Amino acid sequence: MCGIIGYNGTDDAIPYLVEGIKNLEYRGYDSFGCAFDKGNSIVIKKDIGRVEDVINKYKLQNLHSNRGVFHTRWATTGSVTVENAHPIMDCTGRIAVAHNGIIENWTELKDSLHGHKFVSNTDTEVLSHLIEENMKGGNTVVDAVKTVFKKIKGSSSFVVLNRDSNELVAIKKGSPLVLGLAKNGIFISSDVPSFVKHTNRVIYLFDGDMAIIGKKHYKISNLISKKIKHNVSIANFSAKDADKGGYEHFMLKEIMEQPGLLKKLEMSDFGEILKIAPLLKTASGVYLVGAGTSFHAARLGARMFRENGINAIPVQGQDLITYKNVILPNDVFIIISQSGETADIITALPIIKANRKIGIINVEGSTLSRAVDILVSLNTGPEKSVASTKAFTLSAVYLTLIAAATAGTLENAISDLKLMNINMYNLLVPSVLAVIRSAAEKINRLDSIFFLGRDYNYIVAVEAALKMKEVAYIHAEAIDAATFKHGPIALVSDKTYAIAFVSGAIEKETLNNLQEVKARGCKIIGIANKPQDVFDIFIRTQDAGRFDFVMQAIIAQLLAYETARKKGLDIDHPKNLAKSVTTL
Ligand code: F6R
Repeated sequence: MCGIIGYNGTDDAIPYLVEGIKNLEYRGYDSFGCAFDKGNSIVIKKDIGRVEDVINKYKLQNLHSNRGVFHTRWATTGSVTVENAHPIMDCTGRIAVAHNGIIENWTELKDSLHGHKFVSNTDTEVLSHLIEENMKGGNTVVDAVKTVFKKIKGSSSFVVLNRDSNELVAIKKGSPLVLGLAKNGIFISSDVPSFVKHTNRVIYLFDGDMAIIGKKHYKISNLISKKIKHNVSIANFSAKDADKGGYEHFMLKEIMEQPGLLKKLEMSDFGEILKIAPLLKTASGVYLVGAGTSFHAARLGARMFRENGINAIPVQGQDLITYKNVILPNDVFIIISQSGETADIITALPIIKANRKIGIINVEGSTLSRAVDILVSLNTGPEKSVASTKAFTLSAVYLTLIAAATAGTLENAISDLKLMNINMYNLLVPSVLAVIRSAAEKINRLDSIFFLGRDYNYIVAVEAALKMKEVAYIHAEAIDAATFKHGPIALVSDKTYAIAFVSGAIEKETLNNLQEVKARGCKIIGIANKPQDVFDIFIRTQDAGRFDFVMQAIIAQLLAYETARKKGLDIDHPKNLAKSVTTL
């Protein structure tokens, strides 16, 4: 879970890489490092801290080179220290390696290396010394990388800068790598937004692929074939989609993009959805698999499928293995993932190898997007805020439409979507934004908040609580409002705050539950489409029927955002987190 970008070409690499690595910071941001060609040697600069700070410290903007590799780290093996930052060199100073992944057998490999001087405490350094070892006797760096790749266990993608050749060598397993074919050079990167300003012509590498990246030419091979040809794809977004667009934070930009994305969805042809519905109707069971926020979308989807008579089971990626003895051949799996790189899900794929798989995925070319039989591309553009917002909403909306299609009511659902899009104009109005800010003012100093709701609203509460935890660092616990009286109500005092979601068929019961809580001193911030006596603060949503969750989620995202903003936190880079979770 790190970001890598390399460039080899006739232009100056440094400005491209400086800009590119900033775009990859969402993948990790505890330390930064770079390696580039300078005359007959490799220069390395690295430090702990944010990319921008380290770049300024070394005045990297003023340096020049045509070939280099930059890395932003989210520590896995080895703590956050300068020595552990990548790239990491071999003993001879001939090669530098930037790595994304985990080498499971690194200690064994390290023990097998005699006479090498290790300067870090990372698995990555094993790669540098193993490549060095395998280049002894005149082997090329390409041969050495192949040999080393065969020896390592786990998921590891890495890029090697070799002083004595004119190329970069990259190899992929697990973590993503993509080539960008620009006019005067070639990029290799963890993600397209890092170079899309310079080219939208990309080649996604597959597991096992090795790319030799020259200044004008590249060659892809793997351990079996000497040359592989992959299609060049055109990225479906532009540089504009990958920047903050005038917003203070990506999180706010991405929240505010949602009405436009939902409007765009309204105009699509729904071809994939019509293809998927019959498969689900004839399946014994439909498993909806996701992690974190995407799992919450899965839960919403499963609830809707059940409403339409489909045996739907929401499962967290890491739990899929526990279903191995009950999975039937005609069970269908819907995989929901923004990044398409979540290790908990990828690791579970062998269990469902023979089953039909549908993906609801945002990142094109990602591992999961390739592992599925039918892909519903979320097409939200890059989601760069670590806290997922637009991908959640769009996945849950797609699932709502698919559920409707299984019941033969897709047309009605599309009409509801259109109606919601009209009502959306009244959601993010100044008066509502002002109430959200004043609610944030009340809660930002709290240590703990409850999030309450029933049925669908409870699932939204779970997602809302996750947003509050990750960006505002407030302990936020979502509890089914009906369950509250079975124990948790013991925690309520006149210092307690609860955020309550109220809508739909169980409105009356939810309000009863809220009265019980309020009677014990709890203050209630109600997110609902009409005011209620029980609310101390009322944040108005708009009526959206089956899409009520969209309105509620957007308000909850904004509430978390405003609370974090009030606390002065680094909203796009919450501590200890990274965007795609590629570790188990
Ligand atoms: C929370 C968040 C995470 C992700 C989870 C799965 O805001 O972003 O909980 O939802 O790590 O990631 P994807 O959707 O990329 O599989």
